[in-house]
Amino acid sequence: MNKRTFIKSGLLGIGVLLFSKRASALEYYPRPSDKKWAILYATWCGSARDAGVWISEGMDGIANVFDVRENPDLSQYDHIIVGGAIRSGVTSQLLQDYLTKNKDLLKNKIRGYFAVCGNMMQPVTPETTANLIVNHLANICGVTEVPSKVFLGRITFGLMEPDVRKQMESFKMKEYDNLKRPECMAFGEEILSTVQVQK
Ligand SMILES: Cc1cc2nc3c(=O)[nH]c(=O)nc-3n(C[C@H](O)[C@H](O)[C@H](O)COP(=O)(O)O)c2cc1C
Repeated sequence: MNKRTFIKSGLLGIGVLLFSKRASALEYYPRPSDKKWAILYATWCGSARDAGVWISEGMDGIANVFDVRENPDLSQYDHIIVGGAIRSGVTSQLLQDYLTKNKDLLKNKIRGYFAVCGNMMQPVTPETTANLIVNHLANICGVTEVPSKVFLGRITFGLMEPDVRKQMESFKMKEYDNLKRPECMAFGEEILSTVQVQK
């Protein structure tokens, strides 16, 4: 190989590396585990992402956390937790479509559900869980009887689409933050212990 070809192929290799790095999914802090865990979330303004990362933290970080917008390939994962932020009573259409499209793959792997909502800043009731989990996420996935949790989320005007922000402000809505990291972590611990007990 002459010098010019060597330099050319070197540059090509660096380009391929850079591109593949950019194309790969965002890695959080997965720690070694004999089982592969993934948390799939859908968010508009980030609370459901934070809930997902904190659920993983409650599992000592063994779960990798994916935004559904990455359209992740979850076929290599053994255990999957699914959750999303709520607008107008449901999670994002993208998440609903992903769950429908990947129903067969997810069916034997779903270990928990979560939803993040405002709930008019009122405590979560069994009815809230029924609406957002049982009749929504579990219904789409066709998997029931797994740990489920609804978290109260937050409103951050600066992260909203301008038209949505305008609408929310016109309702005299105030910013709030009710998402609690310890609650999310406790849910991660709960799911992990359920699976460990089964094995
Ligand atoms: C346009 C809009 C619609 C919403 N609709 C609901 C709703 O139907 N029920 C509810 O409990 N919370 C609702 N919320 C509150 C959100 O679920 C809450 O802010 C959540 O933390 C957002 O999650 P995210 O930050 O991951 O997008 C709504 C918020 C917005 C901005």
